[in-house]
Amino acid sequence: MKWTLILLLGSSLAETALGWTFHRSEYKMNWTQARQWCQKEYTDIVVMRDQKENDHLVSKLKVRNRSPYYWIGITKKDENGTWTWIKNMSTWISEHPWAVGEPSKNSTDFCVEIYANTGSNRGKWNDEDCSNSKFAACYKAQCNATSCGQGRCQEIIENITCHCDPGFKGDRCQTAVGCPPLSQPDNGSLSCSEGNYTFNSTCRYKCHSGFLMIGLSTVTCGAKGAWSGPRPACASYKQALAAIAGCGALSAFCCICFCWMKHKKRKKLAQVREPEEVRSPSSEAQG
Ligand SMILES: *[C@@H]1O[C@H](CO)[C@@H](O)[C@H](O)[C@H]1NC(C)=O
Ligand SMILES: *[C@@H]1O[C@H](CO)[C@@H](O)[C@H](O)[C@H]1NC(C)=O
Ligand SMILES: *[C@@H]1O[C@H](CO)[C@@H](O)[C@H](O)[C@H]1NC(C)=O
Ligand SMILES: *[C@@H]1O[C@H](CO)[C@@H](O)[C@H](O)[C@H]1NC(C)=O
Ligand SMILES: *[C@@H]1O[C@H](CO)[C@@H](O)[C@H](O)[C@H]1NC(C)=O
Ligand SMILES: *[C@@H]1O[C@H](CO)[C@@H](O)[C@H](O)[C@H]1NC(C)=O
Ligand SMILES: *[C@@H]1O[C@H](CO)[C@@H](O)[C@H](O)[C@H]1NC(C)=O
Ligand SMILES: *[C@@H]1O[C@H](CO)[C@@H](O)[C@H](O)[C@H]1NC(C)=O
Ligand SMILES: *[C@@H]1O[C@H](CO)[C@@H](O)[C@H](O)[C@H]1NC(C)=O
Repeated sequence: MKWTLILLLGSSLAETALGWTFHRSEYKMNWTQARQWCQKEYTDIVVMRDQKENDHLVSKLKVRNRSPYYWIGITKKDENGTWTWIKNMSTWISEHPWAVGEPSKNSTDFCVEIYANTGSNRGKWNDEDCSNSKFAACYKAQCNATSCGQGRCQEIIENITCHCDPGFKGDRCQTAVGCPPLSQPDNGSLSCSEGNYTFNSTCRYKCHSGFLMIGLSTVTCGAKGAWSGPRPACASYKQALAAIAGCGALSAFCCICFCWMKHKKRKKLAQVREPEEVRSPSSEAQG
């Protein structure tokens, strides 16, 4: 019952699924008219990007015994032109689709048809005079401005693929990447811009009065789901001073230590090198 209805609806091959769908006309027209018809009824005259799409299109075209020819979206400007898809939408041309002996060198054939017969030429292409009458093969695009929330939409056979912008995920890029929940520091507080912990949220830490912050006060949720920095600590002035003093003492100690070691090393190196340099001055330049 359902199928009869679909068949009665005629030329439309519309699938219920999302995606770049292929369609055809039931009457013949020249290439220019075919493109206009496709643009009016669907999106444009068909474009295929690989053998798989070519095969899929052919499977959707009505097999005809007489004149099984459908215009497709490739043309060239003149006899010296290169075959180009409408709107430069594909680079797939030169691999296998031409029928044997095609494209011909006939200078008046600037448009391309595809064969939808049952013979060995099924799915192959032929260059033809653009003013001849053929059936139209069209596609209908599914991508629109809202298809892929925060991402780029790509048409694939009978479906779309979303390529998400950094910080978003999901098959339609509808979800912001989340960062792990944060907790407030001891003797301090936390407030986040979005009220949640998603990409681009900024959280600000504060220390209660009488406490000093050790670390950065703001963190941002990055595109990979990680916070830009660790949680700071709130230290009492006493602790802070001790820490600063400790740090100072430590760094002074380290500095002395470092200088002393460097000095020793240099001395040692000098001792090792001297005899070598005397023996062969050129070896160092080579090494
Ligand atoms: C379309 O693609 C989505 C995501 O890849 C998938 O979940 C869905 O099943 C596909 N739909 C069809 C009809 O193939
Ligand atoms: C195409 O190339 C041929 C040979 O170089 C030249 O004679 C002819 O004028 C060219 N045609 C066009 C339309 O440029
Ligand atoms: C189509 O793409 C080719 C190669 O990328 C480029 O040279 C050409 O200018 C483009 N044509 C149009 C009309 O955008
Ligand atoms: C070239 O095309 C013209 C017009 O379509 C046709 O009459 C002629 O036979 C063709 N020549 C060849 C060699 O295919
Ligand atoms: C296609 O047909 C239309 C309407 O008959 C005509 O105006 C146009 O010149 C034709 N184009 C070609 C390339 O033959
Ligand atoms: C945009 O495309 C999506 C599927 O990709 C569809 O669900 C939605 O209805 C479309 N919106 C408009 C305004 O066409
Ligand atoms: C600071 O935090 C510690 C640990 O949570 C707590 O024991 C202490 O009472 C706090 N001090 C003040 C002044 O709130
Ligand atoms: C969570 O964050 C997203 C993205 O920043 C925002 O659109 C949404 O309103 C937030 N949800 C709540 C409950 O605050
Ligand atoms: C992230 O935040 C910055 C600064 O507030 C803003 O310019 C940018 O548009 C935001 N990006 C997204 C994807 O929301």
